[in-house]
Amino acid sequence: MKRLALGAVLILATALSGPADAEKSFTHKEVRARIELMQSNRDALETLHQMMAGQRRFSASEASAARRSLLRNLRKIPRAFRKERMEPLSNARPGIWLNRDDFDARAKAAAKAAAAVKSQNLPALRRTLPDLFHACLSCHDAYRNRPREFTTH
Ligand code: HEC
Repeated sequence: MKRLALGAVLILATALSGPADAEKSFTHKEVRARIELMQSNRDALETLHQMMAGQRRFSASEASAARRSLLRNLRKIPRAFRKERMEPLSNARPGIWLNRDDFDARAKAAAKAAAAVKSQNLPALRRTLPDLFHACLSCHDAYRNRPREFTTH
């Protein structure tokens, strides 16, 4: 999956958004910390995605800062999930702690994809960002439950 159509990328971006309730009270500080880490990933990716989609003016320095923040955060994932902590507000699947090596490998793959993002100009960003989207989503598919945004009863 080297290239994604822009439309597909837009759908992916929606799929990455978290639940609407921003203010949550967590039982475990580790859960809060790992969710904050992910939300920071989302913010940085959003910046790059908006540039890619023409919703924000391209800036090489902002793009480079967002890329660096992603790289830093993605490298922190294995550690952020080291302790097995589950609670109702979390969407983490228990499989993380049963398949540690696989989970860590996906974190590593995502960091590699972030390192490969080219932020110097827009065409390069457009070419390289989809692989990073894919790396985020591939881990979520395996280890994150889809949050339920709408409850009918
Ligand atoms: C190695 C696995 C892995 C990778 C890679 C990964 N995530 Fe996550 N992400 C998770 C898990 C697991 C959760 C659920 C955490 C929880 O609810 O306790 C999550 C949750 C999230 C959330 C929801 C936070 C909330 O408010 O509940 C967002 C947003 C998110 N990730 C964005 C990203 C982005 C953007 C990337 C890529 C740049 C990314 N993630 C890469 C595993 C991963």
